[in-house]
Amino acid sequence: MPPMRLGIPKEVRPGERRVAGTPDTVGRLIKLGFEVRIESGAGLAASFRDSDYQGAGATIASDARTLWSESDVVLKVQPPEANAQLGVHEADLLRQGATLISFVWPARNKELLDRLAARGATVLAMDQIPRISRAQKFDALSSMANIAGYRAIIEAANCYGRFFTGQITAAGKVPPAKVFVIGAGVAGLAAIGAARGLGGVVRAFDTRPAVREQVQSMGAEFVELLFQEDGDGAGGYAKEMSKEYIAAEMKLIGEQAKDADIMVSTALIPGKAAPVLITQEVVESMRPGSVIVDMAAEAGGNCAVTHPGEIFVHRDVTVIGYVDLPSRMAPTASQLYGTNLCHLLTDMGGGANWHVDLNDAVVRGALVLHDGKLTWPPPKIIEPSPEKKPAAPVAAVPRPAVTVTAPKAAPAAAKTSSGVRSALALLGATGALVALGLVAPKEFLSHLTVFILACFVGWQVVWKVTAALHTPLMSVTNAISGIILIGGMLQISGPVSSPVTILGGAAVLLATINVAGGFLVTQRMLRMFRR
Ligand code: NAI
Repeated sequence: MPPMRLGIPKEVRPGERRVAGTPDTVGRLIKLGFEVRIESGAGLAASFRDSDYQGAGATIASDARTLWSESDVVLKVQPPEANAQLGVHEADLLRQGATLISFVWPARNKELLDRLAARGATVLAMDQIPRISRAQKFDALSSMANIAGYRAIIEAANCYGRFFTGQITAAGKVPPAKVFVIGAGVAGLAAIGAARGLGGVVRAFDTRPAVREQVQSMGAEFVELLFQEDGDGAGGYAKEMSKEYIAAEMKLIGEQAKDADIMVSTALIPGKAAPVLITQEVVESMRPGSVIVDMAAEAGGNCAVTHPGEIFVHRDVTVIGYVDLPSRMAPTASQLYGTNLCHLLTDMGGGANWHVDLNDAVVRGALVLHDGKLTWPPPKIIEPSPEKKPAAPVAAVPRPAVTVTAPKAAPAAAKTSSGVRSALALLGATGALVALGLVAPKEFLSHLTVFILACFVGWQVVWKVTAALHTPLMSVTNAISGIILIGGMLQISGPVSSPVTILGGAAVLLATINVAGGFLVTQRMLRMFRR
């Protein structure tokens, strides 16, 4: 069977610099068993030459029409649109029955879906990857939001005429820039990181109290709003807040604005227009030379004077409304997007075992069309463990809730039988203990009791700690398992060949490994948090 052919066309949207594959990701795709073709010049705007792709094993196609029509799977960034140069819609170039993987935004692209359905296409939308822990490596929205948050600060720094970091020089003292971030999702947290990295003093606010610690761990101050309403919606997204809450929040933003040099707003509720939180009066209350980056510009904007896609100066305050921040970092954005695609294609079996698995929650969530049949929105299901908020995507359109099927509740009969089984097991264990108590020496019993209690307490302690903290917990407990060391050392004073000495020696050896390993892991973890 000939290998599956992957095609990467040049993006036709004006100003789009990203490309769906880099020489690095193309190399990985070839290793996955695909034959990769890329349109000549597709990577140029992202600083990748045709020769780089050739070096990675790809073939260069000089003609977009042939590339589209001869590919089994087409990888793109932007949804297919009219190719002005060829005078044809990209969707009509797709081979009958072929697969397309790109951003699609199905809720606002009905006509595009119809066109693709007419080609009998299978379409996976990268913007519909479900927000579940397992899907984080495929999550292109988060990859892009992360880049956008960083770039927002770089754009702000470019327009801001002062240092970010405070300085004391012979010529005088320069205060640090004060940055206020509204909305601490993926983009907001990345903006906090970048602003802190440049030396700014950063404050942030979000309606979801759950992000307070994340903000603080990035070195920023979380601004509190004394209003009893939790902004946590389903699946790590925000929910729409009450009018009273928004009024209180706007007051808080008004106060912060007077003190801030730079404001970055990323507040968004999926499927809704972005809430207007920064009024014209607030903009006018900012110091001349201040900068606002309104990252929610595409969804209407968080600032009343934003001009989407542009830089607009209102009474000496610069308002940046760019909607293409990831594209402004095209090499990195292409690399991360391409890597997200590689993970998805690996999940789908690679070139050798390519298949669309409808039982795979990630594939099913992203699947918009299957052999021309509409499969969006996917069925609503619930993720079993909400312990982790996956990186937040950026959706200005309704995102259907796609989650993993919750394990079915066990039938009542099964529950009862398992209850009887555990009661019997408990009874058996008690009987065994009583029997042991009748024959075993007294000291053995007291040691056994301590041992059982220690197991119980240890189990309860570890069980109650959130899974994400198990490694730090274990590293610390390992480091303090010196008590075993002492116990072992006390036992190795007898004859070398006696079982007690051998066991004592083994205890000393294992406990030493535990203690040393515990310190090593703890050190490594601490190093991760040091700047
Ligand atoms: P996200 O959903 O992870 O984050 C949005 C955050 O805003 C959430 O933490 C949410 O709790 C918070 N929020 C919602 N309402 C709020 C309110 N009233 N006050 C304060 N916080 C509020 O989304 P993500 O991926 O971080 O993206 C953030 C924004 O950046 C979105 O508007 C997205 O469209 C935009 N974006 C813009 C790009 C550009 O080129 N301009 C590129 C990528 C993302």
